[in-house]
Amino acid sequence: MVKTKTVFTCQNCGYQSPKWLGRCPDCNQWNSFVEEDYSPVAVKSKERSALYKDEPILLKDVQIKETDRLKTNISELDRVLGGGVVVGSVVLIGGDPGIGKSTISLQVSNQLVKQGHTVLYVSGEESVAQTKLRARRLDASGDGRLYIVNQTDLSLVTEHIRKINPEVVFIDSVQVIFQPEISSSPGSVSQVRECASMLTQLAKTTGTSIFIIGHVTKQGTLAGPRVLEHIVDTVLYFEGDRFSIYRILRAVKNRFGSTNEIGVFEMSTSGLQEVKNPSQIFLSERPKEVSGSVVVSVLEGSRPLLVEVQSLVSKSSFGYARRRAEGFDYNRLGLLVAVLEKRIGLALEAEDIFVNVAGGIKIEDPAADLGVALAVASAFRDQLILADTVFLGEVGLAGEVRSISQAALRINEAAKLGFRRCLLPRNNYKNLEHSFAGGRSDKSKKKENIELIPVSSLKEALSIATK
Ligand code: TYD
Ligand code: MG
Repeated sequence: MVKTKTVFTCQNCGYQSPKWLGRCPDCNQWNSFVEEDYSPVAVKSKERSALYKDEPILLKDVQIKETDRLKTNISELDRVLGGGVVVGSVVLIGGDPGIGKSTISLQVSNQLVKQGHTVLYVSGEESVAQTKLRARRLDASGDGRLYIVNQTDLSLVTEHIRKINPEVVFIDSVQVIFQPEISSSPGSVSQVRECASMLTQLAKTTGTSIFIIGHVTKQGTLAGPRVLEHIVDTVLYFEGDRFSIYRILRAVKNRFGSTNEIGVFEMSTSGLQEVKNPSQIFLSERPKEVSGSVVVSVLEGSRPLLVEVQSLVSKSSFGYARRRAEGFDYNRLGLLVAVLEKRIGLALEAEDIFVNVAGGIKIEDPAADLGVALAVASAFRDQLILADTVFLGEVGLAGEVRSISQAALRINEAAKLGFRRCLLPRNNYKNLEHSFAGGRSDKSKKKENIELIPVSSLKEALSIATK
């Protein structure tokens, strides 16, 4: 085989090609290829073998330490991590610049040192003094063993880790650290990948937990955290608008817990504060007595969230009717509109339809279908929706309302927030009756007085929901 010295790598997804390409065939990103050096991998294999000295052992002989999780004492984060930071694990925190990655990292460091752990915070982007200023702002005294270093050379970082022997290390961010043996510039796919895999090996061999912070970039000049997802144990992404105060931390991969758990935070003047009852906040600005506003319950991981879906339907002034969905799947909206046209007979073909999920949250749960369809119908007819009601149900192509998962959990959350009625699929209702009536005699369920109204079709739901 002819030896290639350089390779062109897509900075978005890591696809490699021997020649430059204008558009990545893998992720379709334009102009994302950068020439990178390919040779150093062989040079380093000698050094790397030193890290892998462990002999294979029998599974039954493997020892597990009792304290295998460190609590961060930030319960929203602990839950997303699956109950705390696993010793020796690598967690990637991704998100747009300025969303709060450094802030939460420093807050977590502070909580950990308070419990007597040793933490090393490698701040490659900010000077030590800047970090101190931020810590002051966060009211993080840093009493205890919180070490800070401004360093971007990975070999020196590794040395610090070996010397200090911290239990937790933060690398802020992976796009600025580099390995001198690799000639590509910091932030390129090969640097980011090599650094991350070096850090992962370090974590596994020393039992240090490492948080790697990575910026999500749109332009493709920096390698995104996506290229690291398969290397690390846990991937958390910060979602939310940089201009709104709410931030959602979502686990998209977790080797030690369930995925799709979310943690909700609020950016305050002194750092990120936990939002213990997100439903209350998502509903707090809900207008009363307005058509097109519906409350649905979506499941995020193990937690039900109540969110408001708004819709606006207005006569299209162009020949081409527009459909816009914010926080809801566009294609799914198209499907629901088609069902409303065909099965209910609403003349929506010449109407602009907008759907928005309040609070910047993205809905993927099919249980929101019924609510979205009713919001559109209510906006179109300009009819009010039954007040204090939560809507649950998946809508099928025949206009039928299909059963959903975890109905009891969602209903309890709605009852807790003071909703008095719940429209739900008839099949769920049947199963619930059983569990509400006895069986598991769950007293809390009986105490909540929420009226359950079963529906089997969208048509039926619409006639009950609109006066
Ligand atoms: P930061 O954690 O620096 O973002 P990242 O590391 O993800 O790039 O967060 C920066 C933003 O947060 C910045 O716009 C200022 C704001 N902020 C507050 O509102 N309150 C605070 O206490 C702190 C520390 C930051
Ligand atoms: Mg930062």
